[in-house]
Amino acid sequence: MFDRIAPTYDLLNRLLSFGFDRRWRASAIRAGEPRPGQRWLDVAAGSGDMAIAGLREQPGARWFAADPSRELFAVLGKRTPPDLSVPRALARAEALPFRDASFDGVTVAFGVRNFADTAAGLGELARVVRPGGRLIVLEFHPSARGRWGAHPLVTFYLERVLPRVGALVSGAPRAYRYLADSSRGFLTVERMAVELKRAGFSRVQWRPLFPGSVMLTRAVKGG
Ligand SMILES: C[S@@+](CC[C@H](N)C(=O)[O-])C[C@H]1O[C@@H](n2cnc3c(N)ncnc32)[C@H](O)[C@@H]1O
Repeated sequence: MFDRIAPTYDLLNRLLSFGFDRRWRASAIRAGEPRPGQRWLDVAAGSGDMAIAGLREQPGARWFAADPSRELFAVLGKRTPPDLSVPRALARAEALPFRDASFDGVTVAFGVRNFADTAAGLGELARVVRPGGRLIVLEFHPSARGRWGAHPLVTFYLERVLPRVGALVSGAPRAYRYLADSSRGFLTVERMAVELKRAGFSRVQWRPLFPGSVMLTRAVKGG
């Protein structure tokens, strides 16, 4: 599914979020406080928006990317500035091809929702981060209160407008219906915090970037 939408993926991200997604990614990177010389991994990296935001915010850190979609990775390959490199691993979160504690931080933007096995994926994120290292998650969550916990106009937009515009531009109606359906069916942010603690993270904190839907979660590996 993600391979199919690769050609229009970046355009639709900008369009459907009214350009907000760039700001969300920059906020997410800043929340991780990457430092020069550190190694950061972006999981479910897709076309690489987070890794590129990471390079912009902290060019002194090294950014790696993991994702199972060959086509989205091809987009990342084409758009990475020539003087910078983002080493890529074609891999699912549930089986990351990296050693234990090999990164100072991990980011996942709009990807945890897609893990086939959430607990296994979160466990792998915890395994590859060093003790004291950070995890940053950007995700659409249903609110604990109400269906989206959002203004009815936001619900209308996410349920009715976004899937139609997404289908029209990408030619892949299932993918953009999936975005609305999987967001509604995903863990609340409170529930994800419980899962993160179970996986080995602590100090889990979150804040809404878009009321009732997009959340920025930060956690630290270990106690
Ligand atoms: C909505 S896109 C997000 C891409 C990128 N992080 C961004 O912010 O634009 C979701 C990504 O999850 C990836 N994905 C799907 N299943 C996955 C899995 N089991 N493990 C890791 N990534 C997965 C897809 O290939 C896709 O690139």
